[in-house]
Amino acid sequence: MSFSQNMPLFRALKCNIHLPRIPFHLYNRNYCQSGTGESFVPFDMLVSQRRNEARRSLLVEVAGLPSAADLHQVCSQYGTVRKMFHYTTRHSNVNKEMILVEFSEAESLAKALQSTRSPPTDRIIPVHSPFVWLSASRTTSPSSKTANARSSTDIVQETVPTDEELRLQLFQSGDVSEQIQKSYECQKLTELGSRLRFFTCRQVEVALSGLFPQASVLPFGSSVNSFGRFNCDLDMILELFDVGSQDSSQRLVFQAKKSRSAANPRITMQRHMEVISDVLDNFVPGCSQVRKILAARVPIIKYRQDLTDMECDLSMANRSGFYMSEMLYLYGSMDKRVRPLIFALRRWAKDRHITSPYAGRWVTNFSLTLLILFYLMRTSPPVIPPLQTLIKLAGADDIRTTESINCTFLRDLKILTASDNKQSLEDLLRGFFEFYDKFDFKERGLSIVKGDDFTKPEHNALYIQNPLERELNVSRNVTLEELERLRTEITHARYRLEEDVEQSKEEQRQQGWGLLSLWGASQQPQVQRGLNASIDWQEVFHIQEQGTLPTSNKQWNASPAGTATKSSEKVLNNGEKARNNTKFQPVERTKMLKEELIMPSDLNGLVTKLKRNVVQKGANGKKNKKQKMNKVLYKW
Ligand code: CTP
Ligand code: MG
Repeated sequence: MSFSQNMPLFRALKCNIHLPRIPFHLYNRNYCQSGTGESFVPFDMLVSQRRNEARRSLLVEVAGLPSAADLHQVCSQYGTVRKMFHYTTRHSNVNKEMILVEFSEAESLAKALQSTRSPPTDRIIPVHSPFVWLSASRTTSPSSKTANARSSTDIVQETVPTDEELRLQLFQSGDVSEQIQKSYECQKLTELGSRLRFFTCRQVEVALSGLFPQASVLPFGSSVNSFGRFNCDLDMILELFDVGSQDSSQRLVFQAKKSRSAANPRITMQRHMEVISDVLDNFVPGCSQVRKILAARVPIIKYRQDLTDMECDLSMANRSGFYMSEMLYLYGSMDKRVRPLIFALRRWAKDRHITSPYAGRWVTNFSLTLLILFYLMRTSPPVIPPLQTLIKLAGADDIRTTESINCTFLRDLKILTASDNKQSLEDLLRGFFEFYDKFDFKERGLSIVKGDDFTKPEHNALYIQNPLERELNVSRNVTLEELERLRTEITHARYRLEEDVEQSKEEQRQQGWGLLSLWGASQQPQVQRGLNASIDWQEVFHIQEQGTLPTSNKQWNASPAGTATKSSEKVLNNGEKARNNTKFQPVERTKMLKEELIMPSDLNGLVTKLKRNVVQKGANGKKNKKQKMNKVLYKW
């Protein structure tokens, strides 16, 4: 996979020359082609290629782009430099200029790190890691540096179009299908973005390698499932050792310490994660805002990696999340229309405040993605097959089981035949809104395993079967109010698209058309779903009672609500108010519905079937006993 193939819409600087953007007439072709596509890369291969690159990479903070030539010269002492990527961190107070250097050989990186010196102060504990900075040269004059930079080596710079640029491109598109394709190309994860995500995983592996040389950290979620935006969060799974690689015939066996809580693996894992979070917090360069959310169903450590500029969630023993990402990646690879459609709808949901960066009682990107896949299984003919087809076609190489969860399904898509569905992206988008406008969410649940709906087994507002753990509902967190908002927005979107056809050119110019009129975030008031929307997080996430936790008081005091779910912590750390509050105000649901969430003024009288003042209790029914005993109820 070459760099240029992967980032067609991003400006690439090679030797300081601007490569032209891919012209958009390319997108005027027929999108109806389906099939596995020319260059399907199996997920395992993709992951192993990226991990290999990360093992050969060094991240260097520099004074600026002109230092590239200097850095290239320094690095070339240790071996051949294959690629260099420049970027500037955006989120910290002080922007940093960074260059990711990829060596051809891992040995070159090892040599470079052996010669790397410690910082010149005794107040800093030097840490051996592939995160370094380039000190000023004592011999080269600034002018010769600039001259060198002009004849510079390959430096790749990626520029993601601003939202304004994206909107302009969409405005100038020929039709909605073209808009959907462009929006995908402009927003998808870039080559550098992908490399930095694997590199950030590598940093944790390196940090723990002294005690655990076999430790592996794998990315999952939107960073690898091919539905991630250029600035998406990084979800990671840490495995301290590789059970599969053990040779039981070996005579020498490592001495090891038995955990005091060995009888309870969950408590053991929580203790380990406390230690790991302390290591990240105290020693690992670039890690800031480290928070432990250990009482969640899947305990996680959240932190910011300032030097690679991303939010990170680290979990342990969560391989099924990785296989789930593989499954989504496969669906994205099956047909060229899947990724663009999912991007367009994820963006619509974001702009219309259906989804949120904060966890809560609303639809998540993951649930929305499953809704879209389900719809694509129900078109006539289907665009993609149900998961059971992939399960039936699985061979011996496809067998995977983790924590008693069967994650076996076909991995090599080459044996699948292409879909007969010839609908355009625009038709599929309209079809999505029509399909869910009519869907009976009240009585029916959705299964992408069968590609069919079924009578809901529980009274959750929205029931989307977890395709790997089938007795679970991935959207159990969604309340009836939020489902109603989703349905309202779906109906609204459906009419907006129909209205478009009747609009004059002048009206379209003023109001935007196609995707632009659907997104329409700029005209909307921001829905406050952070701290200001006085939400009872304890109620939303069914937080454990303090006494039942094995963790320290310190942790509870620091994050009273964040202990329940991986992302609720984002809410808590969103401002000083959160840090100082230990108790949250009970929610005034009806008030919030009216004032913040529904926004009737946006609906232009198009939707009449909105049921107002929905009472939550009736929707979610009684909590069953099992849930109560389980305590940590929020699934993810
Ligand atoms: N996941 C899962 N079961 C769930 C929720 C999540 O297996 N009930 C897995 C999915 O593979 C999902 C990943 O965990 O993609 C990460 O979850 P999340 O971060 O919520 O979703 P993303 O797909 O990463 O989307 P986003 O861009 O919003 O982070
Ligand atoms: Mg994620």
